Amino acid sequence: MHIFVTGATGFIGAAVVKELIAAGHNVLGMARSDDGAKSLAASGADVLRGSLEDLDHLRQGATAADAVIHLAFVHDWSNFAASCEIDRRAIEALGSVLTGTDKPLLVTTGVAGLVGPGQVATEDDVVPPDFPLPRVSEPAALALKGVRASVVRLPQVHNPVKQGLITPAIAIYREKGVCAYIGDGHNRWPAAHFLDVARLYRLAIEKAEAGAKYHAVAEEGVSMRAIAEAIGRRLKLPVKSITAEEAPAFFGWLANFAGYDMPASSVQTRKTLGWNPTGPGLIADLEQLDVS
Ligand SMILES: NC(=O)c1ccc[n+]([C@@H]2O[C@H](COP(=O)([O-])OP(=O)(O)OC[C@H]3O[C@@H](n4cnc5c(N)ncnc54)[C@H](OP(=O)(O)O)[C@@H]3O)[C@@H](O)[C@H]2O)c1
Repeated sequence: MHIFVTGATGFIGAAVVKELIAAGHNVLGMARSDDGAKSLAASGADVLRGSLEDLDHLRQGATAADAVIHLAFVHDWSNFAASCEIDRRAIEALGSVLTGTDKPLLVTTGVAGLVGPGQVATEDDVVPPDFPLPRVSEPAALALKGVRASVVRLPQVHNPVKQGLITPAIAIYREKGVCAYIGDGHNRWPAAHFLDVARLYRLAIEKAEAGAKYHAVAEEGVSMRAIAEAIGRRLKLPVKSITAEEAPAFFGWLANFAGYDMPASSVQTRKTLGWNPTGPGLIADLEQLDVS
């Protein structure tokens, strides 16, 4: 297939591009910088210069392709609503040229907020309307009429260099000189190794079931305490419990996530796609954390 990939220069996107090319697909990747275009071309992809705000280029990329994988997102946590609006418009622009073509569109979201604390989210759950700051990628894609759209929900995606929201937590730990978790630290974050995630994107776009929601979850939930302790060992920093009241001053914008219990299952996804993650696990990657 000829596959158009947005976010092709990112942490996950670059791995997805390599996985697709290795499996014999042709990739047209979107890049917005010279450096991004250069590294994308070096991986064997064709390059479309453009940005998420440039809807004509998005439509051009999708028109030229047999399938689209949407991974780009503006990670501006200070204006998350604006990032979501850019995402919604981009998805609608991609959808506008895919309508009625039967060409698959695979979009990206996270597993957070699907169910309440203590419950394990499954592929059947949907983000409740009262969830604060919901990401719009999934509802925007699945609302497109006549488009074969499906969704990948991501946990903390990791290797020794990057680990999703744990990467900014590590920066905070280094700045404060201590690795904190909230309360007893039993709240859990699901995780998956970035190469397992890249393989899941390939399997999902090859299968392309309309309306499917795939969980790229290898580990259902790793406790925040275990995460903080692994980072503490690697950075040789003390580890301590803080109260929920102390969390905003310690974690800043990350405070809500840091206390969040968001385990997720991938039982259905593994069965439907024949996806078997092989690791390494999150703690193993944190033990090898790149401290350069
Ligand atoms: N990493 C995780 O653990 C995790 C967890 C949940 C969800 N996700 C989601 O998974 C997707 C990929 O994440 P990632 O970790 O690979 O993020 P990343 O490394 O920050 O990559 C983001 C990608 O989006 C592109 N991008 C950002 N703003 C753009 C714009 N205005 N126009 C065009 N492209 C733009 C970036 O391009 P440049 O290279 O030019 O910056 C890059 O290719 C995102 O949707 C993210 O929110 C990730």
